[in-house]
Amino acid sequence: MENLITLVNKIQRACTALGDHGDESALPTLWDSLPSIAVVGGQSSGKSSVLESVVGKDFLPRGSGIVTRRPLVLQLHKIDEGREYAEFMHLPRKRFTDFAAVRKEIADETDRETGRSKQISSVPIHLSIYSPNVVNLTLIDLPGLTKVAVEGQPESTVRDIENMVRSYIEKPNSIILAISPANQDLATSDAIKISREVDPKGERTFGVLTKIDLMDKGTDAADILEGKSYKLQYPWIGVVNRSQADINKSVDMIAARRREREYFANTPEYRHLAPRMGSEHLGKVLSKHLEGVIRSKIPTLQSLISKTIIELETELSRLGKPIATDAGGKLYMIMEICRVFDQIFKEHLDGIRSGGDKI
Ligand code: GDP
Ligand code: NA
Ligand code: MG
Repeated sequence: MENLITLVNKIQRACTALGDHGDESALPTLWDSLPSIAVVGGQSSGKSSVLESVVGKDFLPRGSGIVTRRPLVLQLHKIDEGREYAEFMHLPRKRFTDFAAVRKEIADETDRETGRSKQISSVPIHLSIYSPNVVNLTLIDLPGLTKVAVEGQPESTVRDIENMVRSYIEKPNSIILAISPANQDLATSDAIKISREVDPKGERTFGVLTKIDLMDKGTDAADILEGKSYKLQYPWIGVVNRSQADINKSVDMIAARRREREYFANTPEYRHLAPRMGSEHLGKVLSKHLEGVIRSKIPTLQSLISKTIIELETELSRLGKPIATDAGGKLYMIMEICRVFDQIFKEHLDGIRSGGDKI
């Protein structure tokens, strides 16, 4: 499995870099066909918190109100050893080893695009994290869905956010983490509403219930988590993230996870569900699902790459001596990268095809 996801990450990274060149080759199609995981839900439902737990690192701005104002495309890369670090695409040669600085840069880069207002922007921030302690995944943090625009936001904001979120999750290859807070009525969940719209059969939607610890006394989420209130194709996963007080006290991830585990194991209403609850379980479920999706995509990806190479060759020969011209030079470069993909594919493929579940 490792090989498979590593391969896809490599391709995805290169495609993202290529996307920056704005060429109208077949590569956007290639990029679109690769799976990624997007978090959707109402404002302050716990999206950024869930993403952080899946990653197992503190690096995202979180808090009450509208904190996430630009999409964040996060690529996790597992490295064999060494110190973990992060890199932003807008700061190519800078390695961040201090994750508090990563969080600050996300906030600053958000402000650079939107001004220090509450405005939102659909221009994504690209961040890569390299660590021995992550699984290879691409995750997308999105601004929260709201019902009304707040002070400093144009009237169109509610609709703009909805459209932006939809543009990420309507792609058939996007896996949706639909975040609903347990302390609000599920019938009003923005996450459920929008994910059902783009994925009516629930084939790529994972329901995540947050804030279980904040439910009114005497109520519990067992019916939801058992799929009795609202059935999803995949079982609901309940999580307990850090509260605002925990964030203020800088409770670390390890302590938070331990507490989460204890919460499910020791609460009578949830004890029977404990093995399939919590952030760590969510992370495992996601990589397992991703594995299946990627496996089924291999033939399509391969033919897309071959097709891209052929198209580029045709385009290059049409241009004549390409390297001399600017456009030709770019095409040439893209084609070279595609060839590398093709090579990587061939190298990885034997193992993947024959490996079955051994990977
Ligand atoms: P987002 O706006 O959806 O990205 O939500 P955030 O992750 O920023 O969280 C919003 C607020 O809710 C923060 O103050 C979090 O500490 C708090 N929060 C999120 N999940 C939970 C949870 O499971 N339990 C508790 N007690 N607080 C949570
Ligand atoms: Na928030
Ligand atoms: Mg957020």
